[in-house]
Amino acid sequence: MALLPIIETPDPRLRKVSTPVETFDDALQTLIDDMFETMYDAPGIGLAAIQVGVPQRLLVIDLQEPEEEGGKPVRKPLVFINPEIVEESEEVQTYSEGCLSVPDQYADVQRPAVIRAKWLDRDGKAHDERLEGLLAICLQHEMDHLQGILFIDHLSRLKRDMVLKRLAKARKETAKAA
Ligand code: NI
Repeated sequence: MALLPIIETPDPRLRKVSTPVETFDDALQTLIDDMFETMYDAPGIGLAAIQVGVPQRLLVIDLQEPEEEGGKPVRKPLVFINPEIVEESEEVQTYSEGCLSVPDQYADVQRPAVIRAKWLDRDGKAHDERLEGLLAICLQHEMDHLQGILFIDHLSRLKRDMVLKRLAKARKETAKAA
């Protein structure tokens, strides 16, 4: 397994529309393993392949939620290949989202609260499930990446500029400290 470099905004590759995965070969399995390792190390709860520079419709999620309140986080790795949202609720939920490609910046984003999604797992097995809560939010955020969309694109121009300004400032401070 290997840690992969995560690309960050404004890298133009993040604006690419990813293409469907067609071959379930060893290279795909290695990429999935590397993406999980990279995501856990970051740390994050979701990662799309394009964030490591691979324009394929593949993403990994692990909310790492504890089984009981206040308990230890439990790993539950999920792989979504060629995902599609087939239904979404009118009811929305708001969550303070972040993104490994927009490091350490958070902003409220509103999305459908409940979705029905179809996807293939790493073995090519088809799934069709109703998702809600953080998993629904996270899947919609990661699926945006497959279309070249970042969570900051859902913000007003004013809020987006604020986030980007904060990011630029944080980068400058990191560069100064190095
Ligand atoms: Ni993201």
